Amino acid sequence: MSDFRSDTVTQPSQAMRQLMSTALVGDDVYGDDPTVNRLQSYAAERMGKQAALFCSSGTQANLLAIMAHCQRGDEYICGQNAHNYKYEGGGAAVLGSVQPQPIENEIDGSLNLDKVKAVIKSDDFHFAKSRLLSLENTIGGKVLPMDYLATLRPFVEQNNLALHLDGARIF
Ligand SMILES: Cc1ncc(COP(=O)(O)O)c(C=O)c1O
Repeated sequence: MSDFRSDTVTQPSQAMRQLMSTALVGDDVYGDDPTVNRLQSYAAERMGKQAALFCSSGTQANLLAIMAHCQRGDEYICGQNAHNYKYEGGGAAVLGSVQPQPIENEIDGSLNLDKVKAVIKSDDFHFAKSRLLSLENTIGGKVLPMDYLATLRPFVEQNNLALHLDGARIF
């Protein structure tokens, strides 16, 4: 029987356990862990990025990304169903002083960009500063359409937002 409740129910195979127990390790603070270094350069290459950072969980990765993009009193716009809004203990608000501005996800999991635009706040000291658009792919098991993804970069540039993708399930 296959159990699809979560990827976290997957058990490591014997070969994976063997590789883990014999992996080369070192002090990651000094950049001396060859396995972490290899993983980070492999991830950067696969994703076409300048660099990658190993995080011990997806929740930690989302929090680091939101806190890297935003300052205290900023906000990130995300879906009501976003993992980093609904399932991460409000970490961005609790630990980063970054307010979420959720909007309804469309049936296909995307965020309607007209609705995103409508919640971007004007420059007024009463308001949190809209700083970041946060998407998730896949979301609820659905793959965001490629033509939709292509519209995101121009949209955030026009609207002075940064862009984050929670790609915990991208592979
Ligand atoms: C889309 C998404 N983001 C983040 C996470 C959080 O990952 P973790 O359980 O490693 O903190 C999950 C976990 O299932 C996820 O599905």
